[in-house]
This record gives sequence, C-alpha cells and structure tokens, in this order.
Amino acid sequence: MIRNKPFEGKVLAILSGGGDTPAINSSIESVRNRASILGFKVYGIRQGWKGLLGDGDVVNLTNQPYNGYYGGTAIRSSRTNPFPTKNNPEDRTGQIMQNLKRYKIDILVTIGGDDTNGAAKRLFEQEGVPVIGFPKTIDNDLRTQSIHSYQGKDIEAVICPGYASAANGIANFTSIIKTNIESHSRIMVMEVMGRDAGWLTGSASFGGSKMSLVPECEMTKQRKDRFFDLVYERYKEEGSLIIAVSEGVRWYNDKTGELEVVYASNELDEYGHALLGGVSGRIASEITSKLKIQARTQITGYYPRGGRCCEFDRRLTSALSDKVMDLILREDYGNMPVLSKVVSFDEVEEYNCGQIDMSSIGNKPLPLEYFNEKSFTFSDSYKDFLTKIIGKREIPQFNTKFPKIYPAE
Ligand code: F6P
Repeated sequence: MIRNKPFEGKVLAILSGGGDTPAINSSIESVRNRASILGFKVYGIRQGWKGLLGDGDVVNLTNQPYNGYYGGTAIRSSRTNPFPTKNNPEDRTGQIMQNLKRYKIDILVTIGGDDTNGAAKRLFEQEGVPVIGFPKTIDNDLRTQSIHSYQGKDIEAVICPGYASAANGIANFTSIIKTNIESHSRIMVMEVMGRDAGWLTGSASFGGSKMSLVPECEMTKQRKDRFFDLVYERYKEEGSLIIAVSEGVRWYNDKTGELEVVYASNELDEYGHALLGGVSGRIASEITSKLKIQARTQITGYYPRGGRCCEFDRRLTSALSDKVMDLILREDYGNMPVLSKVVSFDEVEEYNCGQIDMSSIGNKPLPLEYFNEKSFTFSDSYKDFLTKIIGKREIPQFNTKFPKIYPAE
C-alpha cells in the first residue's frame, strides 16, 4: 500500500477526441487506476474538447466501476477544435481555461491523434496548461517512432493503441468474406479506413486478401495498367480474389487524366478533414468493365473501430499509462508516451516505452519496406511487424479438388 500519495487533493482529468477505437476505455481505465493510486481525483471530460465549453460536461471517474475491455469511449468523443479555424473563427480557448479553473483541474490527459493532441500542446504552450498526450488511432499513422528490427535493419514503424484490435477485426472480416467470394468465383474490392496511410489495409492480408492498394502508392495510369494485368493473372490462378483497398488511395481517372481521392461527403470537420469513402466502387466497376470479371465492393467502414479491446491493446495501454505517471512525476508536460520497440505481447512493458513531443505527430506513411509497389502486396517485413502484434494467422482453406465424374459412354 502506498502511504504517501504525492498527488492527494489534486485533480487529473481525461478526455478523448477524434474517431473511436476499441482501446480508448482501456486507456482511460489504465490511466485512472494509476492516477488514483498516486492520490489524484480523476475526472472524465465528456465529448472531447466540447466538454470544456459552455458550463462544461465533467464526470467523476474516481472509484467508479469501469470496464476497460468494452470498446469505444464511455466518456464519449468529438472532433471539436477549441482553436479558431477558417470555418469556425471563434477562439474558444477562453472557455476552456475558465472551465479548467472552475473544475479545479490540475493536469489534463488527452487521448487522441494529431488533432486532439496538437490542440492540447498549443494549450500547454500558450496557456501553460499541464498536459500529457496519449496516442489513439486505428489508422496507426502517428509518429510513435517505434523501431522494428527486421533482418538486421531498423525500420521506423508505428504502434498506436487501437490498431491491434482494429487489425484483428479486419483480418477476421476478410477471412469471412473469403468464403463468399470463393463460392461465387468473384473479385471483392474491400475498402478499409486509414485516411492517408495503409497500415490497417495490410491486416487484410492476414485474412486472405492477395493484393492491396494503399495511399502511399499513387495509382497512376501506368501503375493501373500493371495492376489490371496482375489482377487478371491472380484471379485466373486462384478462381477468386480479395483486393484490400485503402479509402485514401489516389486513383487515376481515365476521363479527366487526374489522380483523384474519393470523398463520401464534402463536409469538413472542425480540423478541416473531409470524410473519405467510395474508391472501392470505382475500382470494382473498372475491373468488371476492363477484365469482364464479376467484381463487388465491400466497405468495412466502422467495423474495425468497434467492439472489444484485444489483449495486445490492453497490455499496451497499461504500459503507456505507467509511462504517463512517470511523465507526471517528472513534470514532463507536453509529451506523450510511446512504445519504443516493436515487440510481441509479452515484452510490452513500461521499460520498453519512451516519450515524444505531442505536437506534429500525424500522417506517418507506411515505410517503403512494408509494401511492394510492383506486386501490390505487403512484404515479409510488414508480415513480421503485424505478426508481433496480432500473432500468426492460419488462413482457412478448403480443398475443392474433388475427383471429377465423367458421364458413362
Ligand atoms: O481517423 C480515424 C478514422 O476512422 C479514419 O480512418 C476515417 O477516415 C475517419 O476516422 C472517419 O471519421 P468519422 O468518424 O468522422 O466518420
């Protein structure tokens, strides 16, 4: 039992911003548990920065039952941006400061991606609010600088809480879709979230997708021609094919001669991002018209963002929460904890964590080593990376080589 609680009487508040993931509740629970042991009262700010506007929306999480395995975030999330933007010129940082004072919040832990943590860092720099960031995204595109050592080479990879659970989801989803396309001898163009990065799309290869398109590899006219040739070959070899496609793929438009990204709507969020979605439809219809093979689309959408937190994420959020406490004890604000090395489940520990500056952490593309632009496949180094996180997968296979019956003469 800790007798001397160094933060007795102090308040630590947690907020979560941006898209949900299966690991946010686990992050909240882990930070809450450790902070309580150190004596903090722990508050949850509801709906991200929105919960610090107006009169505020703050709840007490200290000593409350909290199930960290349950996916999503019980304190909810939003994409509210407290700073002025082109679309919303109002500066709401005054309201934020007022509420931090009213609720007597001493330290803020912000669970989010580049947007949420970037805003927190600005509050730290401009207003002196003690903040600690906490990484979160299924896109896995934050610069966590986690080193993956593979065959003597160090690759700068990324591991964010939420990614392991989402990758498990996409691998499972793909293996389910597989029986469907095999039965119909079809091509399935399966679209996967991830914004401008293909980290999550790669996990479909653990469920049986044989080709992939990622935003890091622009689909120019020449690349598209090669892609169609390879799709034809792979389909003829296999009798069916799943192609995993990132929502942010840049696809050459034969009519306009331009590379295009497909958006699901024109609406921009408060950080200026438009909603991606729909590129799989274009690709499938071009496959059908060019190759005369029946192609369908399946948008995996919010599926990988939902559901239960996996064991890897559970352990990762625990280790990162230990590091949060270390940063707080050292008053090292404006930083966020990260996993320093890509390791398998049993080596995810605090001693394996480091810290990074929490501003400008967004949009880390897939390392070149992870994707083969010639074959449109993920490389062995990516497979090694993901195996450490979600384990080896047996892709279910049915032997359909039945002896053929010929009619009697
Ligand atoms: O950044 C996470 C993410 O799930 C992206 O992969 C996706 O493009 C976006 O969020 C969807 O945003 P929303 O939750 O606003 O629909």
